[in-house]
Amino acid sequence: MPAFALENGLAKTPPMGWNSWNKFGCNVDEKLIRGAADAMVSSGLKDAGYQYVVIDDCWQVGRDKEGNIVPDPQKFAGGIKALADYVHSKGLKFGIYSDAGTGTCQNRPGSRGYEFQDARQYAAWGVDYLKYDWCNHSTQNSEASYSIMRDALAKSGRPIAFSLCEWGSTKPWLWAKDVGNLWRATGDIVDKWSGSEKWGGLGVVEILDQLNGLESYAGPGHWNDPDMLEVGNGGLNEIEARAHFSLWCILAAPLMAGNDLSSMKPEIRNILTNKDLIAVDQDALGMQGRRVKKTGDFEVWSKQLSDGGRAVALLNRGKAEQQISVGWVDIGYPESLKASVRDLWTGKSSSGNGNYSAAVPSHGAVVLRINP
Ligand code: GLA
Repeated sequence: MPAFALENGLAKTPPMGWNSWNKFGCNVDEKLIRGAADAMVSSGLKDAGYQYVVIDDCWQVGRDKEGNIVPDPQKFAGGIKALADYVHSKGLKFGIYSDAGTGTCQNRPGSRGYEFQDARQYAAWGVDYLKYDWCNHSTQNSEASYSIMRDALAKSGRPIAFSLCEWGSTKPWLWAKDVGNLWRATGDIVDKWSGSEKWGGLGVVEILDQLNGLESYAGPGHWNDPDMLEVGNGGLNEIEARAHFSLWCILAAPLMAGNDLSSMKPEIRNILTNKDLIAVDQDALGMQGRRVKKTGDFEVWSKQLSDGGRAVALLNRGKAEQQISVGWVDIGYPESLKASVRDLWTGKSSSGNGNYSAAVPSHGAVVLRINP
């Protein structure tokens, strides 16, 4: 059977929001979610473009005798509909989580065999976004399984953004454009700059390396997802957190904050709400940036923008400060081109003659907007 295209018209730019998992894991309840919605507004994240408030795993406990999914009656005593209404009353959108297999990654009920019933329930609750995981899938085929939920969401009568989470295990970039609005391209992010865990968790730079080369698969309505942000969760210092956010913006990544929004330090809020960086991420052209130069630990990443400009990240993965330079030829410009250069973290403007260089701290990224 031919795949039907995903025609929900959503996520023309990478989705922005907050998800409970990175900080709170299974400790989710309605108070936490309401608080996250409140904080998204009061902290200025909403004004900066963040929109979806997403409950990850552990909100569900079973199915009733008709097969309807049952939320945890203690933790979500008011019910999911009331919670969604509350999130909507703040001018935000509401997201939820399930799994294409028989159980979620925390062994709560999955949607296998209940796809249409669940989708109809989500629509009745007012769900705007579904993250759909891949635990307990046995011998299921990924494209077929995710396509069933795509069709169920399409029939639900409500536009619901569809976030695929099969960790890049079956190369979703090759097939998911017609299935979901975004797909995880890697294993789970862990709150550290570098390193990989036995269970598959990856540091920021390991994820970055895996995203390089996938540029051509991303575009308006369908994005590679390098996983949710760890900015503000404590495992990255401020320089590293800024670099993490910078590179996710260069990648046109979905920007899902993963920290406690209600107790953010100002420096963390300043990272998450940097307007110039967010404009790079949300640029209408929808191009994912790529690595254009690598000399050992020193890298140059470039993202083409709709105004003909480039967003360029000078990334230092080494242990000491380093001068890193970008040549115009590295980013597809003739050497003779006159261009203005603006540093998107300091706000300083200057110009470059064929190239530009800056001192970049260890584990830092300088991000430039270069406009002819
Ligand atoms: C998987 C996903 C994570 C998170 C957990 C929840 O590991 O990749 O993002 O949703 O499951 O159990």
